[in-house]
Amino acid sequence: MNRALLSASDRWDSTSSVRSNPNTYDLNLAANSASSKTWHLSGYSGILSLPLFADLSEDDINYVMGLQLLEFVTKQARFEIECVNKVAQDLAFGNYTYVISDEFKLDALKIYTDEGYHSYFTKKLANQIIAHFKLPEHEISSVVNIHFSKISQIGSQFDKKYSYLSDLAIVFVAENQIVADISSEMKSVVHEPIVSMFKDHLVDEVFHAKYFAELLPILWGQMTDYEQTVLGINICESMIVLGKPRTDIYYVSLAKLGFAEEVIRDAIDLKYNNDEWNRVRLKDRMKPTIDLLSSVGVFQHDLVKSTFQQKGLL
Ligand SMILES: [Fe+2]
Ligand SMILES: [Fe+2]
Repeated sequence: MNRALLSASDRWDSTSSVRSNPNTYDLNLAANSASSKTWHLSGYSGILSLPLFADLSEDDINYVMGLQLLEFVTKQARFEIECVNKVAQDLAFGNYTYVISDEFKLDALKIYTDEGYHSYFTKKLANQIIAHFKLPEHEISSVVNIHFSKISQIGSQFDKKYSYLSDLAIVFVAENQIVADISSEMKSVVHEPIVSMFKDHLVDEVFHAKYFAELLPILWGQMTDYEQTVLGINICESMIVLGKPRTDIYYVSLAKLGFAEEVIRDAIDLKYNNDEWNRVRLKDRMKPTIDLLSSVGVFQHDLVKSTFQQKGLL
């Protein structure tokens, strides 16, 4: 274990959110009437820059951004448990054929504990937003289900016995990206309880990112050529699923504002179906993970390298 990971792991008892943070994560939405500054997830609401939406009221803009945040935290609450903790428990209890140290196994349980707490406070936040907008919960969960069905398709071209490499791929990408994603989101959010939720999450994710960055070469070095192919291609697919803008929520938010389904579909197509969103921004956003893969030597594998090139990620 390198020094940076070791000290992050050693500090866990005193710095992890679950061990040290008594925050109640109450949004106080009734007390502070929500304004456009409440959510301000502008980076996630790019569609609003279209002329079609130029005349929306501040309340309407607030609603669209509020639902973007709701989609983000609802997805996150599930992802922590269903994806990250699936891998964390498999690592902790030696369910892979690869050899990892006891320190790595114990640290996987620290991550498991962190993610359980993250799931709790992000779900608590989600519930408050749902209540604030008086939105039926199934409307948001059906949108989030679409995202998880895309995740479950990763690696489906390979034999089912390699599904553990799909689990590892999505978690490697997510745990590497989340630090960059949360810090860029934090820049635009101003409502204090939401900022502190993001900050607390960030502290823990810095440790997780170090852990998975150090784990990758350990596992990669023990894999057969075929396992490397499967993991590499699954990582590429994971980047596409996690890195593209999630637009399905617009069918809920904009529909509630009175826009017809075809109008919303056309607007999404106009805004996002282009090289800028499908390649340039995706590649830019995934740069920290691409750099990690490169340093581990993943692109020395020809088939993996050519897959990334075909998708425009290299
Ligand atoms: Fe987390
Ligand atoms: Fe994490």
